[in-house]
Amino acid sequence: MEKYLHYINGAWVEPASGEWFDTENPYTGETWARIARGNAADADAAVSAAKAAFEGGWGETKPTARGKLLNRLADLIERDAQRLGEIEVRDNGKLIAEMAGQTRYLAEWYRYYGGLADKVEGAVIPTDKEGVFNFTRYEPLGVVGMITPWNSPLLLLAWKLSAALAAGNTAVIKPSEFTSASTLEFMKLIEEAGFPPGVVNTITGFGIEVGAPMVEHADVAKVAFTGSDISGQKIYEAAARSIKPVTLELGGKSPNIVFEDADQEAAVMGAISGIFAATGQTCIAGSRLLLQRSIHNEFVDRLVEVAKSATIGDPMSLDTHVGPVTTPPQYQKVLDYIDIANKDGATCVLGGKPYDGPGARGSQFVEPTIFTGVDNSMRIAQEEVFGPVLGVIPFDTEQDAIRIANDIDFGLAAGVWTSDIGRAIRMSEKLRVGTVWINTYRAVSYTSPFGGYKRSGLGRESGMEAIKGFMQVKSVWIAQQTSVANPFIMR
Ligand code: NAI
Ligand code: MG
Repeated sequence: MEKYLHYINGAWVEPASGEWFDTENPYTGETWARIARGNAADADAAVSAAKAAFEGGWGETKPTARGKLLNRLADLIERDAQRLGEIEVRDNGKLIAEMAGQTRYLAEWYRYYGGLADKVEGAVIPTDKEGVFNFTRYEPLGVVGMITPWNSPLLLLAWKLSAALAAGNTAVIKPSEFTSASTLEFMKLIEEAGFPPGVVNTITGFGIEVGAPMVEHADVAKVAFTGSDISGQKIYEAAARSIKPVTLELGGKSPNIVFEDADQEAAVMGAISGIFAATGQTCIAGSRLLLQRSIHNEFVDRLVEVAKSATIGDPMSLDTHVGPVTTPPQYQKVLDYIDIANKDGATCVLGGKPYDGPGARGSQFVEPTIFTGVDNSMRIAQEEVFGPVLGVIPFDTEQDAIRIANDIDFGLAAGVWTSDIGRAIRMSEKLRVGTVWINTYRAVSYTSPFGGYKRSGLGRESGMEAIKGFMQVKSVWIAQQTSVANPFIMR
């Protein structure tokens, strides 16, 4: 069995507690590795190492030099993408067909921010003052704490780490207790790329035991988090006590809206990719399907037909479309929501049960499930399930669609399917979400800002703007000549 230690200050370190916990392969149900069970002492050691690295020179490194290191790291990620992808699949059960490609693609975040590292420019500010010169400079924050979930550990880490390192910060990473292995394997590439010890550290364990002390640590300057809204809120509250900025990416209940004028077959595929890809375990899942009433029945028939044909089974097989749910509590949560939807009066037209047919192993498979007759006020429409469960909500007019889509606490993303360009533009303006996809779904890139409105989060990842989220601006005033004017009034 594999055994994974903390990675602190460039070394593999035993947990202070002397304790370990198991991580399972969700497909087989077997324990395949033991992970260090971190606590406050480990968090303190990692933050101290990151602080020392920041003060010891990393914070002063030239941006171009940081960019070169990030580019070297990107090359190593590409070299090892298949291997890292396989570790991810073993630990989280998502499809190798998706994870290998995703792992290769995440190299681009490190390249993009590597390139951006030496392009963050301050300004010379025009001033009303006589004989004074004023300019701004962007500086790193210091130690950034990063907390990631289990659904796409290395990708969601890349969104944070690439920008934070390019900006000149150091990092302490706390991956999900369900999927720590890929991040620890990734530390070997950090080392091989040539990052000095302490610049990137990883500590493992449970949120309360090691994540919370890291968030609260006085020497952590910022926390970047992806996960549930409940944990995000706790982290925000804890960060507030020491006035730390946070970036929060907290999932959603995204509407995928199909109008009668849309290419219906493309929209069916978009609806499938929105909810059954990744077994529905993505923050951007299109878990509310809004169908215009005139096309509703025909659309649902075709949707059920396509969803039924999905191959369920071994996530390591390239032919599999739907794999297991990643964690036992998540599996139970998905089944509970199916129960709730049934009790609330929605109609189950596909699935609705654990899956134990061909290809199934272990005990974490759920059938792809579709409910019709969903009202937007039902819990199945308002709460994030994070599994292969779709609720179909009918609507009549464009105004109805907008009202239903926005009538929710979340605001991460939305899909719109239409052939009317005017409607596409109107919808993109009216939807209260951070990302709108017109006639496509689940497109993300390192070039484009990503994040949530409302309860879906705070701040943005990716794109030009995100790097400034890991920096602070300083205003510098220089007098052209010294003066002895009245010191008791503001200049
Ligand atoms: P979670 O939000 O509890 O955990 C995410 C990360 O935060 C993990 O690394 C965890 O150890 C850490 N954490 C939890 N509480 C913490 C605290 N008080 N202080 C510091 N760190 C803390 O997510 P969980 O329990 O794995 O999944 C629960 C639900 O969250 C899912 O059912 C799903 O609805 C949602 N979720 C959303 C994701 C997204 O991409 N937005 C990703 C994963 C889950
Ligand atoms: Mg696991």
